[in-house]
Amino acid sequence: MAQELREQYRPQFHFTPKANWMNDPNGMVYHHGIYHLFFQYYPHDKVWGPMHWGHATSKDMISWEEQPIALYPDTLGYIFSGSAVVDKANTAGFGKDALVAIFTHHDPVQEKQKTGRHETQSIAYSLDDGKTWTKYEGNPVIENPGISDFRDPKVRWFEPQKKWIMTLATKDRITFYSSPNLKSWTRESDFGAKEGGHGGVWECPDLFPIMHAGRQIWVLIVNINPGGPNKGSAGQYFLGDFDGKTFTPNSKETKWLDFGTDNYAAVTFANTGSRQILLGWMSNWQYANVVPTDPWRSAMTIARELGLKTVGKEIYLTSLTVKELDVLNSTGFSLNRVKVKGQLDLTEKAKNKTGLFRIDLKTKNTADFSIVLANEVGNELMVGYDKAANQYYIDRTNSGKTDFEKGFGKKHIAPRFATGSDIPLTLIGDVASVELFADNGLTVMTDIFFPEKPMSKLSIKSVSGITMDHLKYTILKPSVE
Ligand code: FRU
Repeated sequence: MAQELREQYRPQFHFTPKANWMNDPNGMVYHHGIYHLFFQYYPHDKVWGPMHWGHATSKDMISWEEQPIALYPDTLGYIFSGSAVVDKANTAGFGKDALVAIFTHHDPVQEKQKTGRHETQSIAYSLDDGKTWTKYEGNPVIENPGISDFRDPKVRWFEPQKKWIMTLATKDRITFYSSPNLKSWTRESDFGAKEGGHGGVWECPDLFPIMHAGRQIWVLIVNINPGGPNKGSAGQYFLGDFDGKTFTPNSKETKWLDFGTDNYAAVTFANTGSRQILLGWMSNWQYANVVPTDPWRSAMTIARELGLKTVGKEIYLTSLTVKELDVLNSTGFSLNRVKVKGQLDLTEKAKNKTGLFRIDLKTKNTADFSIVLANEVGNELMVGYDKAANQYYIDRTNSGKTDFEKGFGKKHIAPRFATGSDIPLTLIGDVASVELFADNGLTVMTDIFFPEKPMSKLSIKSVSGITMDHLKYTILKPSVE
């Protein structure tokens, strides 16, 4: 099922729960031909509350079907964020090919007592493809050593040493643990005393390798809240080596996965072979509890395939929409070598009533330009390039409803890392979001917005004038239509 729900602001090709509160994606895993997305969920209200793991499944990561809740709070606490693995070799003894979830138990009673030990790590397993889960009777599997923020375990198999590695957020750093069986864990090392941004608490980490120019490079993702490049929550990453014990970064630069304000707690799916696929929560703790959606809150980003690219002396992570998104491609138009001076109105050509689209364009970095989405009541969202600053931006200042939080109606900026003169970019739009992938995914921005009417108007603006070498516009249609 794609979303059949059509309330105002209901995304049509991004996952949303039918009702109530959602935050981080959890336990994302590919298993027996199905992608599983679990998520932080509070089934009784539209604001954050005692956390459960909601569940959704998909064959293509685009069209999601919501499933019954997978994990409920228990005597050890709420079920906070974590990961899931396929235990192919039955290391834990739960059964061959068992799905094992590794998550944080957050005890609200101990939290009130300020013991500083209210977060512990626990596991649960499923032998029926994620439908039903049994919590391990020996929980928690990692006790809290006295660190107030001690959470969000991301586990992967480390083949060279035939052991599991857990990457855990421990307040203002990352702690790595290892285990032969997912039940008994040994602390290996800490990372982050001197590295990265420290404007907030470190949360939802991830660690995985990507091959680049014949070499394996380890990517360590560390989400941080607040302290993002455009305020609030965001994801930073480090590149380097991992030897089964210690992560050694190869650069001191703080790098960001996404410069928009709406891609938090992003981590990758497990068990996808050499593909590394990232998905995040398309909101920000700065306003997530007050965004004007009803009867649910929050959507996930589109799934993104990660890669690496060298620019000068630095290597950067790149993100592009997964190729599976192409299933939504419907009608559209293409233009070649169009000059834009002032404003080129493409509304008639686009004939888009829904505001669901994809733009792939190629131009040069010779002048300022912007893509303007608008509607008949004067809401405007601009996505553009500022030549003098060599920056991309998304400006949602006048994009519709913004008054629910004073920091929401802003312009967000992102550096351009690519050095060539060609600017290729892809922009995808749903009812209430845009995701910009510039320079083949070197600069990424994800922003949500709440227009009073669908953004059915489209134009390209360039005051000093620019040529669009190529512009392809595609209307996206969820499969139910
Ligand atoms: C990140 C986070 C996690 C935590 C979860 C609680 O958004 O704060 O660190 O496990 O949300 O819902």
